Amino acid sequence: MPDAIIEMRSDTMTKPTPAMREAIANAEVGDDMSGEDPTVNRLEAMIAERLGKEAAVFACSGTQSNQMGVRVHCRPGDELLIEAWGHIASYEAGGPAALSGVTCRPIIGRRGLLEVSDLEGQIHNDDQHLCPTRLVCVENTANRGGGVVYSLGAMQQIGAWAHENGLKVHMDGARLFNAVVAGGYTAQEICEPVDTISVCFSKGLGCPMGSALIGSEEEIRIARRARKLFGGAMRQSGIVAAAAIYALENNVDRMQEDHDNARAFAEALSQIEGIEIEMPETNLVFFDVEQEYGTAFALSSRLRELGVNINPTGPQSLRACTHLDVTREQSLRAAELIGDCLSKGLADVAETITGGPYASR
Ligand SMILES: Cc1ncc(COP(=O)(O)O)c(C=O)c1O
Repeated sequence: MPDAIIEMRSDTMTKPTPAMREAIANAEVGDDMSGEDPTVNRLEAMIAERLGKEAAVFACSGTQSNQMGVRVHCRPGDELLIEAWGHIASYEAGGPAALSGVTCRPIIGRRGLLEVSDLEGQIHNDDQHLCPTRLVCVENTANRGGGVVYSLGAMQQIGAWAHENGLKVHMDGARLFNAVVAGGYTAQEICEPVDTISVCFSKGLGCPMGSALIGSEEEIRIARRARKLFGGAMRQSGIVAAAAIYALENNVDRMQEDHDNARAFAEALSQIEGIEIEMPETNLVFFDVEQEYGTAFALSSRLRELGVNINPTGPQSLRACTHLDVTREQSLRAAELIGDCLSKGLADVAETITGGPYASR
């Protein structure tokens, strides 16, 4: 096994830097359940202001803050509309049904993104046979769509259409700041058309854990109760909120570097015979191995032996991710090793890596 692993499975794999650890070590803390953790209070105010909303609540994970969002907007028996690849419906352990009694109705969009034309005609209200539609969930960036970014115009149209029709909009912004850096808009502009937003601190922002749900005072008041109910209310959580403050102050603009590395990696892959790829918009790079060259499982298994971690997302497809622990040199080295693997052939590789869509969180 080579010394330095090139870790491209996910931006969730980042480890806190020495400077972030120092911020954690120096965090002033108190009992957050009594509203007395100054660092959590500062983070909540900071992220609410950054997104142009009234209030925010710190949560353990993106899954938790998404599920708090669903709970805020829906009652048992209601349904939400979501693009078919959406994380909230597909990768959160059935949370909407299990935690809030909510049905998810998947809508086929394009590369994980929805347009108003996909949503028109989809609202159920008066018919007693159907679940009342309450909420539209959008994901920005859309993970399984390829880390793609909503345009400001598309988001404004969805927000306006939803509100005209009495629906609320929740944005899964696990990678909101990747979208902001790539989309050419501010966080405030892209969040203006939606009601609540979840953001993750534990992905490209590089924190060990943490997320927030952001919205109006009233929505966040309800969300705090949901957080308690879902087991996510914390005590001296300023210890981890300090990392999130550090990340918001230091790690947002640098994401451009991750996007540039993703593009350099993708451009190198596009030169390799046997690879099919679409150019990435942000830090997620999805690519396919042509069948005659072998499977994604074989390629992933061989790469693992060579010290490169990239997960399959299906029999012929893989997802690689750049983040603050992957350099340009490593990105190009990973592409070079993929080229070597395909030119040498994968026929004799033992498939030690198996799995499916779950591999790309
Ligand atoms: C788009 C998206 N939403 C939500 C989540 C959930 O975040 P967490 O792993 O912190 O629960 C993830 C990552 O897992 C994600 O990729």
